[in-house]
Amino acid sequence: MKAIVQDRYGPPEEVLELREIDEPQVGDDDVLVRVRASCVHPDIWHAVTGRPYLLRLMFGGVLRPKDPVPGMDVAGVVEAVGKNVTRFAPGNEVFGATRTELAWRNGGAFAEHVSVPQDALASKPEHVSFEQAASVPTSGFIALLNTGGGRRIRPGQNVLINGAGGGVGTIAVQIAKARGARVTGVDSTEKTEMVLSLGADHVVDYTREDFAQSGERYDLIFDVASNLSLRGCKRALTANGIYLVIGHDHFGDAQGRVLGSVPRMLGLMAISLFVSHLPKRDPSIPNPNIKDSMVHLAELLETGKLTPPIDRTYPLEEVAEAMLYLQTGRACGKIIIAP
Ligand SMILES: NC(=O)c1ccc[n+]([C@@H]2O[C@H](COP(=O)([O-])OP(=O)(O)OC[C@H]3O[C@@H](n4cnc5c(N)ncnc54)[C@H](OP(=O)(O)O)[C@@H]3O)[C@@H](O)[C@H]2O)c1
Repeated sequence: MKAIVQDRYGPPEEVLELREIDEPQVGDDDVLVRVRASCVHPDIWHAVTGRPYLLRLMFGGVLRPKDPVPGMDVAGVVEAVGKNVTRFAPGNEVFGATRTELAWRNGGAFAEHVSVPQDALASKPEHVSFEQAASVPTSGFIALLNTGGGRRIRPGQNVLINGAGGGVGTIAVQIAKARGARVTGVDSTEKTEMVLSLGADHVVDYTREDFAQSGERYDLIFDVASNLSLRGCKRALTANGIYLVIGHDHFGDAQGRVLGSVPRMLGLMAISLFVSHLPKRDPSIPNPNIKDSMVHLAELLETGKLTPPIDRTYPLEEVAEAMLYLQTGRACGKIIIAP
């Protein structure tokens, strides 16, 4: 089959090549999917470039990528199933992540076929395109994971999403609206119309206005762009308001080459028990796993509560170009790869 392959870490345009390789093996719990669409996002950049270097040690392989084919999200048609697979059969249209855990390592989706654990997949709703379905899995999972499957957002709450026009933000806006929150989205001028079209009640163009100076108070600030500080957000939070950040290295511009945003995230976790505005573990809201999250995302797509915006689609051989476009930050919606 045709696949994008990398033998070493580095800039996408230097290390990614289209090659003919063997089809993947299908394990007993796996599903072989004929890929109709995949997508690029910042975590693909981390896995391909091997930056920050700590992630190589933790996930991807120290000297070279353990898994040569990048891509973490897939939508396509089932071609074969392993002997333990009960939820899917050949011919089914599915979408999902290529792994059951969030890991900054290549997942094999930039190819004509990928083998995926059945728990990382859900059935694709009929009226949703392969492109839209492929744009959702890992971005949606990260949005759900950080909001307790959405349950940390309660009806009537005032929620602000910083970076609302990006891959995770566009989904977070729609999850928060589906939960009945009043949503303010913050992003750049070019993305404000799109964020409103996704259902946000209000938008703030960060190039013209500082939301923290407006006098408005939020029950939740979800900092997807990860450029805010807890101290700076305090004045914009209600007494019990929560500041939630997921970390974003902005393609190496915002954080160091070695550790990236890991020290900041660990620091916030360490002080979260003592600082009122940071999220605490809530035993009544367990973290959702990928299987439940995919079912949840499929329901949101099915009911029209989640409509993923697509910016453009690239053929498989142009993954490097797609990633360069991602790095410009200009995409209004997801960037899709279609073999
Ligand atoms: N997407 C995924 O599938 C996925 C999966 C797992 C984890 N993650 C992680 O989640 C994080 C977010 O990913 P993403 O896909 O949402 O990234 P993204 O698409 O780059 O979105 C970030 C958004 O923030 C905006 N932004 C930049 N500077 C800003 C500022 N000062 N104030 C407000 N907004 C600003 C950007 O818009 P402008 O560029 O126009 O300013 C962009 O729309 C990353 O760390 C990523 O690694 C993503």
